[in-house]
Amino acid sequence: MNHHVMAKRAGTEPAASESGFAEAVIEGLSADTKTLPCRFFYDAIGSELFEQITQVPEYYPTRTEAALLERSATGISARTRAGTVLIEFGSGSSRKTEILLAQMPQLAAYVPIDVSGDALREAQARLAQRFPALDVLPVVGDFGADLHLPRHLAHAPRLGFFPGSTIGNLVPAHAQELLAQMGRQLDGGRLIVGVDLRKDLAVLVPAYNDAAGVTAAFNLNLLTRINRELGGDFDLRAFRHDAVWNGDEGRIEMHLVSRKRQDVHLLGHVFAFTEGERIHTENSYKYSLEGFRRVAEGAGWRVTSVWTDERQWFSLQELSRG
Ligand code: AVJ
Repeated sequence: MNHHVMAKRAGTEPAASESGFAEAVIEGLSADTKTLPCRFFYDAIGSELFEQITQVPEYYPTRTEAALLERSATGISARTRAGTVLIEFGSGSSRKTEILLAQMPQLAAYVPIDVSGDALREAQARLAQRFPALDVLPVVGDFGADLHLPRHLAHAPRLGFFPGSTIGNLVPAHAQELLAQMGRQLDGGRLIVGVDLRKDLAVLVPAYNDAAGVTAAFNLNLLTRINRELGGDFDLRAFRHDAVWNGDEGRIEMHLVSRKRQDVHLLGHVFAFTEGERIHTENSYKYSLEGFRRVAEGAGWRVTSVWTDERQWFSLQELSRG
């Protein structure tokens, strides 16, 4: 049996005005070093492009993590009490989650949280087919969204799931705050988190600049979205995608580089670009196991299990409270 969506506006995308898109874009483009927040990548087209990124040969994280999940799911299940609620932060298509769900018949419910109502509806329909006995309770919103679980589940044990190394999009101080917040949302429960690891730059950099150009299209789609939703006049051919390793910070950065000097107009503002000027659109931190342990411990967690592939490219980590 499937309950109804519990968010304020069931099954709808947050309106651009409510998501703070306009404010964030104007603020980011007004700064000396121009930036745009990566959370706005994921409109319908961006989410589809991200799905395509996960299929390109250079992008190792998704398939490496899926293989790790295949190996760890029975172990995770063995440590999970009957009646537990599985809560996924940023569930997207929930495709990877199926690996876990297949081994966890003891769950009382699965609560996928995502900003995309479309993705949630699609996932819910697919999961209803494959796991007809599973109670799926989607929540439209961002990770921080308040969790109002139905009364019969309010006191159930909680297991958090935060795969995909989305944690890597945050600077470590913010990653620590988010992990602490999830600790409060999970109310004493554990958290399984996917964390991408440091590796050879010959592997790392092409993962963010694939030969087929899918990552470039994903990055540039942010400008398309600004044009469509905010009435901007970005010339898509006048910007190019770039991905660079920032060794001081331990992160891959994505940028959009202006190919020429140009002015861009939107919402009554004019933004001037010099030739070669960059808009910094995303950080993707790559942790060492020790580095991530420090962040987790700073947020009040203990790392109680680590699964990693033989090349140590990616990790799934089980965090437990203090
Ligand atoms: C979904 C945030 C994990 O940083 O690897 C993929 C997003 N950006 N290619 C990542 C992304 C460019 C991805 N995360």
